[in-house]
Amino acid sequence: MLKGKNIIVGVTGSIAAYKAAYLIRGLVKKGANVQVVITPAGKEFITPLTLSTLSNAPVISEFFSNRDGSWNSHVDLGLWADAMLIAPATAATIGKIANGIADNMLITTYLSCKAPVFIAPAMDLDMFAHPTTQQNLDRLRTFGNRIIEPAEGELASHLIGKGRMEEPDSIICVLEHFFAEQKDLREKKIVITAGPTYEKIDPVRFIGNYSSGKMGYALAKACAERGAEVILISGPVSETIAHPNVTRIDVESADEMYNEAMSVFPHVDAGILCAAVADYKPAVSMDKKIKRESSAELTLQLTPNKDIAASLGAIKKEGQVLVGFALETNNEEAHALDKLKRKNLDFIVLNSLKEKGAGFRCDTNKISIIDQKGAIAEFPLKLKQEVAVDIVDKLATLLL
Ligand code: C5P
Repeated sequence: MLKGKNIIVGVTGSIAAYKAAYLIRGLVKKGANVQVVITPAGKEFITPLTLSTLSNAPVISEFFSNRDGSWNSHVDLGLWADAMLIAPATAATIGKIANGIADNMLITTYLSCKAPVFIAPAMDLDMFAHPTTQQNLDRLRTFGNRIIEPAEGELASHLIGKGRMEEPDSIICVLEHFFAEQKDLREKKIVITAGPTYEKIDPVRFIGNYSSGKMGYALAKACAERGAEVILISGPVSETIAHPNVTRIDVESADEMYNEAMSVFPHVDAGILCAAVADYKPAVSMDKKIKRESSAELTLQLTPNKDIAASLGAIKKEGQVLVGFALETNNEEAHALDKLKRKNLDFIVLNSLKEKGAGFRCDTNKISIIDQKGAIAEFPLKLKQEVAVDIVDKLATLLL
């Protein structure tokens, strides 16, 4: 799995830097091309000579060479990499990368890196448990970085607790697993609906909802990273996405979303319907702004929108997979299962409203996945990026 992969290994100033030597040796033995970037503090713990000997390449630590002024391009390095691994990652480096403080070569490389980043923290137990460190790690998770949790055990301070960098063999396993899974959706085409819809009342007003699009965008990214070609049909949101596999189609109303989804669906392998589509729209939308003076009371007549999920379910062909979402307030599971059947979905993702931190506008979500047989898989509260991976894992089992 690692053969021929280009991996940047970032080494920072921790006693666990000695483990970087084993790690680099292990990666090279598996056939990876390793480029080491070390921080100034890292060099206090392990010599560049050791690491360059093990990686078969000069270790980079400065922006340019003092001897001849030649420039080390962090941009080229960032583009070269299939993955970047920072191991060990100190609290200082974690804090700097979480906040863009680019004062050494390792951090500029991190900022230029387009490839997935893995971070293996190593520090004293109290430093690791400190809210600052935990918030920085959460921030890095929201960027899509993968944190390789430290283990419990004896630390350099001789205290016992969580903070030991994970063992090199386990870190190598994480990378192998990642590359094994990474492109399993190659050659698959997936349409995803995301965000709210706006139903026009007049030229300045609309009926909308609180959907942020975060879950749909996280799904688009997760599918694209696994090699799928993604068509993201998005209602009005402030989320952005920049991945070469994603084509974004912006829509405003449920009718526009319906038209785009219906024309795309016959050409894809799967659809994930994550949008919070308005159930109703104004029966007429006014050409001119409605004036307050025009009448004392105003009644808006609403008419139902088309159900995109049910319409796609009705034209679904054999081999196509359709995934829906449900947000219920009572009898959650029974309602979700009924929706799955009615809309001809392959599985439905039930968002819990019972849990704090789940649902609209937040970065986390708590879901259950219900399949056609009614089997329920419950997941803990997680970041939406991690929830997206769980959903795409399930989708992948039906597509492959
Ligand atoms: O019926 P309900 O709106 O609760 O169903 C939710 C699921 O149906 C979601 O997957 C949502 O994206 C989809 N849906 C749709 N078109 C609608 C309403 C809901 O695609 N008009």
